[in-house]
Amino acid sequence: MLNLLAVGASDTGVNPWVALAYLVAGVCFILALRGLSSPATSRAGNRYGMIGMTIAVVTTLITHDIASLPEIGIAIAIGGTIGFVIARKIAMTAMPQLVAAFHSLVGLAAVLVAGAAYANPGAFGILVSHIDPTGLETLVISPVSRIEMALGAAIGAITFSGSVIAFLKLNGNMSGAPIMLPMRHVINLGTLVAIIVLTALFAMTDPAPEWMFGTILVLAFVIGFLLIIPIGGADMPVVVSMLNSYSGWAAAAMGFTLHNTAMIITGALVGASGAILSYIMCRAMNRSFISVIAGGFGAEDTGGGDGAVKIDRPWKRGSAEDAAFMMSQAEQVIIIPGYGMAVAQAQHVLREMGDLLKEKGVTVKYAIHPVAGRMPGHMNVLLAEANVPYDEVFELEDINGEFAQTDVAFVIGANDVVNPAAKTDKSSPIFGMPVFDVGKAKQVFFIKRSMGGVGYAGVDNDVFYMDQTMMLLSDAKKMVEEINKSLVD
Ligand code: TAP
Repeated sequence: MLNLLAVGASDTGVNPWVALAYLVAGVCFILALRGLSSPATSRAGNRYGMIGMTIAVVTTLITHDIASLPEIGIAIAIGGTIGFVIARKIAMTAMPQLVAAFHSLVGLAAVLVAGAAYANPGAFGILVSHIDPTGLETLVISPVSRIEMALGAAIGAITFSGSVIAFLKLNGNMSGAPIMLPMRHVINLGTLVAIIVLTALFAMTDPAPEWMFGTILVLAFVIGFLLIIPIGGADMPVVVSMLNSYSGWAAAAMGFTLHNTAMIITGALVGASGAILSYIMCRAMNRSFISVIAGGFGAEDTGGGDGAVKIDRPWKRGSAEDAAFMMSQAEQVIIIPGYGMAVAQAQHVLREMGDLLKEKGVTVKYAIHPVAGRMPGHMNVLLAEANVPYDEVFELEDINGEFAQTDVAFVIGANDVVNPAAKTDKSSPIFGMPVFDVGKAKQVFFIKRSMGGVGYAGVDNDVFYMDQTMMLLSDAKKMVEEINKSLVD
């Protein structure tokens, strides 16, 4: 491990070729992010990312004084194999907890790098001469390096313990309910101030005392834990994206300790893009961005969705034949996919349905809510996997105005993202979240398995009971297969 940590330990600034290679890698990463911002360019974006990472890794390997290349090879082989196996096995719906688990490793790596630099500063080239009041000259860790080290260790520790709690909550090993400590804001603020004061003292005291470094680490582990326990299940996606941002800043701090510009650039890109994604998700879920960072929101546990609602209102049941007939007569059909489509893996049969309708002259559009499913871009990924043309996929603000002129809104496994309570019911856990106005369409079809089943927020949906709504109660894939059969017949 220490050999791995020593990668990048020497000063890259003296070799302009290394600086240039890292700069090119940094530009590739920026192009990768730009490419990934649209499904149409995401493959090119991925390619830029891979090229950038190859340049960064190869440059690091050939220019640094690596003690043992075989050891690094073995570490890469072990890590790569574990990553490969997990990637093959993981269910798409378990992605949020996997991401949280991976973030915890980035945090831990930052703590270990900072710890290694503190334990063996000579190997990291961060020693400077110090003359004490008696005139005795000693070598000590430079004050700037001590600040970088303390910050890297603190951000890494916060990322680690916060991500572990997020993983346990998302994986169901711990209750998703918020745990509210009395005076938690005062405790959080006090802990944060203590970390900052200790970091300043750590930079000013020669030689840097072990107890200070250890206390900073312990306090940071504690605050990571304190920031995440008060957050309820429904708000976890924003937390995961925020931890993603923290893991980027932790990597950037590691880059300073290791004098590695590629890590500084990459960490800053991850940190900034994670923060922007958190902001976008907060807006989509009507949450306060500042509250997320402060770990203070999520007072009500709105997560879950395992419960059931009591149905005491009339509703209409439809059949696959009804849906096939009405849609084939329509001028425009808007399909709204949600979490249930992912569970049923119905994206391929859904694309086939879209193709069959288009053959009949129907205009087909797909409407994607920013938080549909269980992770950012969940629906986009599934529709892209099924080769749904990108120009048929629309975001909330671009298509919401069209429902009033649309013949059929076809809701497949979505609930919260089409629930008008978000606009009308102040007491609803989803109040304030922008939603699709599917109730304005002439005809609405809802595919779900039962009337009692609820979505993530655990609330009933008035659109189920509207005059123009027909419920198609079945597994999503099975129902769409039957609709396709009727469309062909
Ligand atoms: P949900 O509101 O969770 O609704 C899912 C619907 O799918 C339910 O009505 C469920 O009803 C149905 N369903 C489940 N399995 C099905 C299957 N096999 N076949 C047919 N239907 C099935 O989904 P949504 O509208 O996509 O909203 C997402 C929610 O998750 C939001 O509240 C969002 O805030 C939250 N969230 C989002 C994210 C991100 S980043 N996307 C992450 C975590 C949480 P039945 O049980 O009756 O079938």
